[in-house]
Parts: sequence; C-alpha cells; structure tokens
Amino acid sequence: MSKILVVYYSFEGTTELVANSIAKLTNGDLLNIKPVNELKSKGFSKYFWGGSQVFMKKSPSLIDFDLDINLYDTIFIGTPIWAGTYAPPIKSFFAIDDLKGKQIYFFYTHDGGPGKVEKHAKAAIEVNNMFAGTLGLLSVKKNLESNMEIIKSWISSLNL
Ligand SMILES: Cc1cc2nc3c(=O)[nH]c(=O)nc-3n(C[C@H](O)[C@H](O)[C@H](O)COP(=O)(O)O)c2cc1C
Repeated sequence: MSKILVVYYSFEGTTELVANSIAKLTNGDLLNIKPVNELKSKGFSKYFWGGSQVFMKKSPSLIDFDLDINLYDTIFIGTPIWAGTYAPPIKSFFAIDDLKGKQIYFFYTHDGGPGKVEKHAKAAIEVNNMFAGTLGLLSVKKNLESNMEIIKSWISSLNL
C-alpha cells in the first residue's frame, strides 16, 4: 500500500467528516486546506459571496501548510459543492506545483445540486495527474449512517 494523503476543504464541517472517515479507513494522513480570507458569513449571504467567488473563477491564496506533497503517491481530494462545482480553495490546490504524477481520487459533498463537478474535477486533475475515481455524497449530516456505509464500501472497492 502506498502512502496516502487526504486533502480537503470544508466550510461547515460536512466534507471534514467524510475526510476523517476516509483517512481512518485508508490509514492516510490528513491535510485541511484553508483560504487566507475565509468567507465571513454563515447565514444566507454565504451562498451569494461563495457563489460569486466561483463565478469570478477565483483561486484564493491558501494558508501555508507544513506538509510535503512529494511524499505521497495517492491523494484523495475532497470539497463541498459551491455553485455546481468544487469550492475555490480546491481550485487553488489543483494548481500547486507539487501536484504532479499522482493517483487522485476525488470526493464531494452536496445538497442535491452537484452540477458538472465530476467533469470539471476530472479535467483539472488530468492536466498533470491520473484521475482514479470519484464519490459524491448527498446530505451527509442528515443521513450520516448510510453515508458512512457508502464511504466504507467505496474505499474497500479501490485498489489502494
Ligand atoms: C457558497 C455555497 C454554495 C453552495 N452551492 C451548492 C450547490 O450548488 N449545490 C449543492 O448541492 N449544494 C451547494 N451548497 C451546499 C454544500 O455543498 C453542502 O452543504 C456541503 O455538504 C457543505 O460542505 P461543508 O460543510 O464541508 O462546507 C453550497 C454551499 C455554500 C456555502
């Protein structure tokens, strides 16, 4: 088994639950990426401000992380869906120099409108890496148990 890294962005903790579960099941290391300027609003206006970052194709600067991506061959990358695609901090992560020649699994959490995220993620990953698979999870906090079962069976189906 190669060394595994689970990278994620999570604004409200849902994707974090999934990332923690994947890291546990794969014995992987975790990396929580955060933008330097996080959205301030947790109320309804978060959809406006978060969505406009997506529409303006923002790649926000990330807080420096003290971890060497070069140590890992297999990377899981997880995101909430924002305006039908991956969240802007993940766009920034896809562009980092060290993300090359990896086997990448992509996962996302959403509330029913995943849009074209799988197509977008595959295209972004395949620029410099191998796209190995994807998992989308609906309403994770509402249906925690069944989602945890879905994660378990996904992980056990992978050739890690
Ligand atoms: C700015 C913003 C935009 C969102 N856009 C969508 C969307 O287009 N489709 C959808 O299904 N959920 C959307 N959501 C809901 C989140 O994708 C969903 O609740 C996710 O599980 C949250 O993950 P987190 O708790 O890790 O941040 C949006 C949430 C935010 C904050």
